[in-house]
Amino acid sequence: MWMILTIISLLQVVTVHSLDNGLARTPPMGWLSWERFRCNIDCKNDPDNCISENLYMKMADLMVSEGFKDAGYQFVNIDDCWMARERDSKGRLQADPDRFPHGIKALADYIHSKGLKLGIYEDFGTETCGGYPGSEFYMQSDANSFAEWDVDMLKFDGCNSDPKDMDTGYPIMGQFLNQTGRPIVYECSWPSAQWVIAHIKPDYKAVREHCNVWRVARDVQDDWVNVQHIIDVYGTDDSGFTNFTGPGGFSDPDMLVVGDFGLSYNQQKTQMALWSLWSAPLFMSTDLRTIDSASKALLQHPGLIAINQDPLGAQAVRLYQISSLGVWLKPLAKTGSYAIGIVNRDNQGMPNTVKLQLNQLGLPGPSYNISDVFENKPLGVYTSTDMFIMSIEPTSIFIGLAVPSS
Ligand SMILES: *[C@@H]1O[C@H](CO)[C@@H](O)[C@H](O)[C@H]1NC(C)=O
Ligand SMILES: *[C@@H]1O[C@H](CO)[C@@H](O)[C@H](O)[C@H]1NC(C)=O
Repeated sequence: MWMILTIISLLQVVTVHSLDNGLARTPPMGWLSWERFRCNIDCKNDPDNCISENLYMKMADLMVSEGFKDAGYQFVNIDDCWMARERDSKGRLQADPDRFPHGIKALADYIHSKGLKLGIYEDFGTETCGGYPGSEFYMQSDANSFAEWDVDMLKFDGCNSDPKDMDTGYPIMGQFLNQTGRPIVYECSWPSAQWVIAHIKPDYKAVREHCNVWRVARDVQDDWVNVQHIIDVYGTDDSGFTNFTGPGGFSDPDMLVVGDFGLSYNQQKTQMALWSLWSAPLFMSTDLRTIDSASKALLQHPGLIAINQDPLGAQAVRLYQISSLGVWLKPLAKTGSYAIGIVNRDNQGMPNTVKLQLNQLGLPGPSYNISDVFENKPLGVYTSTDMFIMSIEPTSIFIGLAVPSS
């Protein structure tokens, strides 16, 4: 704990150039089908939950009517399994004709009519992860299709390819997207595919120069063990991505599973708060038709979203993890201010009382106004040696805001 003052020097603003397309100045927010709806293509037996234009139109409707759009969520993103099994006679991608009878352009028009944006999915390799036509040998054609269809974001996955080819291949796709002239947020699985699958240390400087969003860990699952794994990927940062998040380009820990089946309320709160502290893209993957009000309120929490969308775009650093307690610190754009996260991963059934001096939270200044972000409640002025005491429930988090008081 006493090494905090040296660790603070790690909290620095990104200086590496981001992709120069003017997009993703703050982390993109939206809805993505994969984690919740996967590759369900059985529209005969499961018409309401299969990957089809109806699903995306319905989610767009609900994003508007249920307040998600007003809270900041903007993208409705298609994931794998939207395509026909074959390209057309000219080698172009086509949507599955039964599940997307009006085509992607019509879906984009509908999404745009709601004031939202449409994202789509392809893969760098010969096939997508789900076995649909991949972009290898077709990258320019595919970039042109996405632009003709008025798509606003591309998730470019890394299955069925050689991770060693990615250092050249992902920038080439970026160039083809750029040449279309249409602003398209470019999300790359490049570093996660290299690191997780091939254990190649990613060149994050190059990734940031060519992508707006990049995946850094394995896929999220609807499960607390998996979410904790991602928390530790961020905490240990073995592949060295922390310093590269900032306006124009953001590390992506994958989707929010808030509102699904596997996490308790406290675990959902912890996921939403950490993703906000990390300046992570906030992509919900949940059924907006049935989500309960507590999960919905978490996803729309104004204080957490404000931390996520802070214009400095820094990624919180884990200052330390001592047994079950992890302390995270994120510098904010407002001079000298920080967001603090204290995660209690103890699961022994009763809240932990945590006592820390402000300087043990890594705050360098003499005194701060502290508030509880989640409760939107001021907690008073604390000097660097004042003891800060809070009670944190099992697998939950305290999120504080520290603003210099003088
Ligand atoms: C293409 O790249 C140029 C140079 O980096 C940039 O100025 C321009 O905004 C980009 N255009 C699009 C559509 O991404
Ligand atoms: C982040 O940048 C700092 C300062 O340049 C450096 O000391 C640190 O090692 C970097 N962290 C990582 C994980 O690369």
